[in-house]
Amino acid sequence: MTSHENMQTAEVNLHQKRGKLIAVCSAKGGIGRTTLTVNLAVALIKKNFSVAILDGDFQFGDVNLAMDLKTSLTIKEVVEGMGSIDEHSLANYLAVHESGVRVLSAPERPEFADLVTNEAVTKIVDVMVAGHDYVVVDTPVGLNEQAIQFIERADQILVVTNLEMASLKNTKLLLETLDILGLRSRARTIINRANMESVIKATDAAKILAVENPIYIANDFQICSQSINLGVPFVIKHGKSEAAKSVFKMAELISSESGAITAKKTKKSHSPFGKWFSKK
Ligand SMILES: Nc1ncnc2c1ncn2[C@@H]1O[C@H](COP(=O)(O)OP(=O)(O)OP(=O)(O)O)[C@@H](O)[C@H]1O
Ligand SMILES: [Mg+2]
Repeated sequence: MTSHENMQTAEVNLHQKRGKLIAVCSAKGGIGRTTLTVNLAVALIKKNFSVAILDGDFQFGDVNLAMDLKTSLTIKEVVEGMGSIDEHSLANYLAVHESGVRVLSAPERPEFADLVTNEAVTKIVDVMVAGHDYVVVDTPVGLNEQAIQFIERADQILVVTNLEMASLKNTKLLLETLDILGLRSRARTIINRANMESVIKATDAAKILAVENPIYIANDFQICSQSINLGVPFVIKHGKSEAAKSVFKMAELISSESGAITAKKTKKSHSPFGKWFSKK
């Protein structure tokens, strides 16, 4: 399929079902959130799940770039047509990647981010989750209001770090914050580039973070950077690479654990972050 054909919006029939929301977050930028979001989504679809990505970085989202999707329909256009959004009409705004992953893109320009209200995001997430087995959100860096609205609603929170001390220090703070807020049981730590050359080894990182079962993703700068620059997730073209193998393993783990994690999830009547941020 050509990238032009990829531009076609979805003419999909979304079924009513409750899927899982996966928030991919990190305390530091440039750590691999987008790389892992797109590759995890494709790995899950290869396991015959229906999968959508929500590019949650409304200012500088680059999921489209990472998947070579060109579409003029973004979450901004969804919000503008909000009155009539349901699972059927939302499908028209989703770009379809050749793998079958459906993508709701971030606005084309950073100044449009403010048009996307929390209320609209809540409705959009509900509709997307109702129509797919998995919705993977590439969240903006850190714990700003936008990231938090996804994190607190997620069935699984993937906290991505690497072996650099600054990342580990901030990841530890992020994990502690999730703990304080009662969200830690849904969080899974991903140590990206786990075998990169570093004075800190992956096992030391796990100890520093006090996490028992982190998911390790192999380091492969050439394949990852080529993949993101060409817009082809490496699990497609380099399925046998160490990076792809670790993503497939992660998809297996996540899909086998998601039932248990959701079952453990306690429904809260109000946002634990409410005291930090006033909702729009
Ligand atoms: N497992 C990996 N091995 C080697 N390089 C990687 C790996 N994962 C990501 N990278 C590289 O790290 C860089 C940043 O990745 P990416 O854009 O996915 O990070 P990000 O957290 O989404 O960044 P941003 O904060 O800018 O959104 C890219 O050049 C990517 O190729
Ligand atoms: Mg990114």
